[in-house]
Amino acid sequence: TTPLRLGIAGLGTVGVGVLKLLTTHAERLKERSGRDIVISAVSARSKNKDRGVSLDEYTWEDDPVSLASRSDVDVIVELIGGEDGPAKALVEAALENGKHVVTANKALLAMSGQPLAERAEAAGLSLRFEAAVAGGIPCIKVLTEGLAGNEIDRVIGVMNGTCNYILTRMEAEGLPYEEVFAEADKLGYLEADPTLDVGGIDAGHKLALLSSIAFGTQVDFDGIAIEGIERIEIADIRHAADMGFKIKLLGVAKLTGRGLEQRMSPCLVPKGSPLGQLQGATNMVIFEGDASGQIVLRGAGAGEGPTASAVLSDIVDIARGYRVPTFGQPADTLRAARPAIAAAP
Ligand code: HSE
Repeated sequence: TTPLRLGIAGLGTVGVGVLKLLTTHAERLKERSGRDIVISAVSARSKNKDRGVSLDEYTWEDDPVSLASRSDVDVIVELIGGEDGPAKALVEAALENGKHVVTANKALLAMSGQPLAERAEAAGLSLRFEAAVAGGIPCIKVLTEGLAGNEIDRVIGVMNGTCNYILTRMEAEGLPYEEVFAEADKLGYLEADPTLDVGGIDAGHKLALLSSIAFGTQVDFDGIAIEGIERIEIADIRHAADMGFKIKLLGVAKLTGRGLEQRMSPCLVPKGSPLGQLQGATNMVIFEGDASGQIVLRGAGAGEGPTASAVLSDIVDIARGYRVPTFGQPADTLRAARPAIAAAP
């Protein structure tokens, strides 16, 4: 059998985690995929930054987009991030040139997932993004495969580790928002632009992606009612605790007669519930299927190992020759998330 050849763009926390897993688990990955998985070339902003791993054995490309035109690359692994710029240019070039794409880029897919998925499917290519939602929790595969026999009634989730870390530290230590925000920064959980985290936007991107798969609707980030955690004070957390509740940045999505309803906002949850007990930079994703009942998934929502684990699951699927539409059904069959509003007479 021929090896599956990767071009990896972006060597930050997640990219380095992917390099490490491909090395330490090479044999296991080969057994599971039925073929070798090799790295043909890599690209990142800086070649000489100390990452704790050697890049000596990899072919280097200064421009990530050049990875997409290499004849020795079958799959582009896009770990640059950002809703446009080089990440978007690379993914477009990859699909143009007949390469599969694995990405952790929630912002890109939340904004441009529909046209990108249509292009990928028209070309018979995979565009996979398990790592984009809830880090190590394989929630996309649970939805597209495990729950394929259900009508999904509701999707609920805590999907930003930074916000959950900040809220639980404020509660446990009585520390003010500014102080725990600085801690989260040191731990490396934050997005390059942390207003995406605390403003609820990053979690909103993830909710929009899950909604599309769960309800067969087009990705509708703009339809989410979003409120972040910037205005939560210790006093709010104490009042909630007095009544037996915790405050969580919670996403909820369901399909109603008026279309898809999606919100991402600080919510009260009972202290003793699974959501109420969620500590630190952890995520929880809950699906309610008409046949399955409630499925609760909990795990690390960010960080090197967990996110790399999700990237590898997509790479192995592609190596096995397993093809699934980006959003679980062909992108051109997804329904509009919101009914068209009749123009005023
Ligand atoms: N900034 C994100 C979080 C990283 O805190 O959850 C994972 O998407």
